[in-house]
Amino acid sequence: MAFRILGIETSCDETSAAVVQFSNLSDIKVLSDVTARQEEIHERFGGIVPELASRRHLESLLPVVRHAIEKSGLKYSDLSAISVTTKPGLIGSLLIGVNGAKTLCYSLNIPLISINHLEAHLSAILLEEPAIELPALGLIVSGGHTSLYKISDSWSKFSALAHTRDDAAGEAFDKGARLLGLPYPGGPQISKLAEDGNPSAIEFPRSLPGKTNIEFSFSGLKTSLSNYLAKNPEPNLSDLSASFQEAIVDSLVEKTKNAIQLTGMKTVVVAGGVAANNRLREKMEARLKGKAKVFFPSMQFCTDNGAMVAAAGVVKFLEKDFISGPDLFHTEVAPKTEARARKGKVL
Ligand code: KG4
Ligand code: ZN
Repeated sequence: MAFRILGIETSCDETSAAVVQFSNLSDIKVLSDVTARQEEIHERFGGIVPELASRRHLESLLPVVRHAIEKSGLKYSDLSAISVTTKPGLIGSLLIGVNGAKTLCYSLNIPLISINHLEAHLSAILLEEPAIELPALGLIVSGGHTSLYKISDSWSKFSALAHTRDDAAGEAFDKGARLLGLPYPGGPQISKLAEDGNPSAIEFPRSLPGKTNIEFSFSGLKTSLSNYLAKNPEPNLSDLSASFQEAIVDSLVEKTKNAIQLTGMKTVVVAGGVAANNRLREKMEARLKGKAKVFFPSMQFCTDNGAMVAAAGVVKFLEKDFISGPDLFHTEVAPKTEARARKGKVL
């Protein structure tokens, strides 16, 4: 029997909705995936302005959902459930998507599925590689998070192994770009400039070294860039971008390698906006060769999208982990991430 889930994502600055069809975890088909971006609103501020993000979600949500349904060739009444990101994220942004999803579920009399955004990023891989062997190590690299997770024996069992102590990898790209006078989001800008640069031109620090450390830290790198710019006001932007990017990529790869060694896991899934970075994709594959198999979602499923929320929804739907009737009212949003994992402890 085929089921259909509408996935809705509004936790940050993308309003996205997607429809997937499936009968089990290995045959998920994306029927539509529609995203309205907000870069033009936030780029001049060098980062996301939460109030502006919520207002734009409010304008975009209904047209984006309608478009996703139309593109899927289905009707609202064909939906089996709706999954929506309820945490973590910007509170105003989350509330728009969650209230839209609750209302639709109530009026269609179908269940709601509450989704953790970070788990959704990792679950995006199910859209393309459903047969991945578990347990797997999950590296989430986005604008708000940089964390290592263990996905144990099912796609609903995630446990945090380590987080960043300060900035996220995407945040490092974004703040670095701001120091270089480049618009938000900084990751794609820096990686474009880096294409013609020498990654070893400038020596930037790799924080928290050592073979047993799996925590991340990027704020020192940002200070280093700022100090470099103070001493070199007219830098070679390509070399600088390539060297800055290399420091972020090296840290991500080294910590992942350490985590593989410490846990003995043989599969790695890398997800989140920074997973779209070509240098990270190349270097992760090369450095983990013979140690672990590495999976990246294709580019369109790396940055925030409704299809990954729908994919995470499929897992919970099949486990009957959903909410309906008056309980819909009590579905809450949780803007903050779960309690931080204990200092680099491997669970
Ligand atoms: O996952 P995402 O779309 O949103 C969050 O959940 O945060 O990630 C956005 C982040 C931004 O910080 C952006 O600069 C970064 O992903 N990003 C990249 C690339 N594309 C997006 N960073 C490095 N290289 C890229 N190609
Ligand atoms: Zn994200």
